[in-house]
Amino acid sequence: MRIGDIVVDPPVLLAPMAGVSNRAFRAIARSQGASLCTTEMVSANALAHNSVKSYWLMELDPGESPVGIQIAGNDPEIMAKAAREAEQQGADLVDINMGCPVNKVVKNGDGSALLRDEDAAVRVVEAVVRAVRVPVTVKMRAGWDHDSITAPRLAERFERAGVKAIALHARTRSDQYLRPANWDFIRQVRERISIPLIGNGDVNTPEDARRMLETTGADAVMVGRAAFGDPWIFRRIAYFFEHGEHLPPPSAQERADMALWHLVRMVEIKGEAVAIPEMRKQLAWYLKGTPGSREFRMRCQQLKTRAEAEALIAEWLDHARDEELTWS
Ligand SMILES: Cc1cc2nc3c(=O)[nH]c(=O)nc-3n(C[C@H](O)[C@H](O)[C@H](O)COP(=O)(O)O)c2cc1C
Repeated sequence: MRIGDIVVDPPVLLAPMAGVSNRAFRAIARSQGASLCTTEMVSANALAHNSVKSYWLMELDPGESPVGIQIAGNDPEIMAKAAREAEQQGADLVDINMGCPVNKVVKNGDGSALLRDEDAAVRVVEAVVRAVRVPVTVKMRAGWDHDSITAPRLAERFERAGVKAIALHARTRSDQYLRPANWDFIRQVRERISIPLIGNGDVNTPEDARRMLETTGADAVMVGRAAFGDPWIFRRIAYFFEHGEHLPPPSAQERADMALWHLVRMVEIKGEAVAIPEMRKQLAWYLKGTPGSREFRMRCQQLKTRAEAEALIAEWLDHARDEELTWS
C-alpha cells in the first residue's frame, strides 16, 4: 500500500494512542514490523497557545520514518497552522483526529464531534490539505451514534478534498469501547472511496487481521490495544500474511529484554520521575502469561525508581524462564 509516495509495507500499522504511542513505543513497534506509526494526538489549540507538552508530543526520533503526526481540532486556520508545524517537525504525513470520544475533547467540537458536523469536518480537511505538501490522512469513527453513520459519506468527501488515506475505527462515538467493533462499517466506507483504507478495531490476532482484510476490502490493518506488552504482534501478523503460518511467541528472555529496553528509553526521554509512573502499566503488560505472574503485575504498580523496575524485571525472568508462556 502507498499513501502518497510513502510505501506502507507490510500493511500493518500502529494506532495512535495517547499515553502509549510515544517515541519509545513507536521505535519498538517499528522494530517489530509496524510499517507506519503515528504519534499521540496533539491538540491544535494547545499548540496555538505554545503548550510545551504539545511540542514534546510532536518530537520524532532522528531518522524516524515513516511517521505520522496526529492533530486534533475544529478550527480550519488553527488546524492548518498545526499541520504546518507537524510538517516542519518532519512528519511524513499529517493525520487528522475525528475519532476521539472523550468528553473534554468533543465538548470543544473536536475529535469525533466533527462526525456530526459534516461541513465543518470538510472545511478542516480542506484547510489542512492546502496547508502542507505531505499527505493528509483522517482517522475517524463510523459516526456519532448508530442513527448517524456518517463515515461513508464523509470519507467520500474527504477523498474529493485531497485526503490520501482513511483509517476507520469501526465503532461509533456512542459505542466508546463498550461494544465490539463492527467491521461492516469498514466495508461500507470501502464502497465509497478508492484511496487506501486502513481498518481498525479489535484486531487481536493474525487471524483477525486476515479476516478484516478479507471481509472488508481494507488495504491494511491498524493495531492498538493488542500491542500493549506485545509489540511482537506486528511481526506475527506480517509473517502470517506472507507465509500463512504462525511465528512462535517470544521467549521470557525476549520479553524481559523488550520491557527493559522500553523502560530505559522512557527514562532517557522523560526522566525517571515521569517515566516510572507511566511505565507501571506497560511493564505489567509485558510480565503477563506465566502462572504466578499476577503477583509481579501487582508489584509493578508500586514501582518508584528505575532500579526497582530493573530488579523486578530480572526477578520475573528468573521466575518465568522455565515456564510455558501464554498470552492470557
Ligand atoms: C489508551 C488509548 C489511547 C488512544 N489515543 C488515541 C489518540 O490519541 N488518537 C486516536 O486517533 N485514537 C486513539 N485511540 C484509539 C486507537 O487508536 C484505536 O482506534 C482503538 O484503540 C481501537 O483499536 P484496537 O481495538 O486495536 O485497540 C486510543 C486508544 C487507547 C486504548
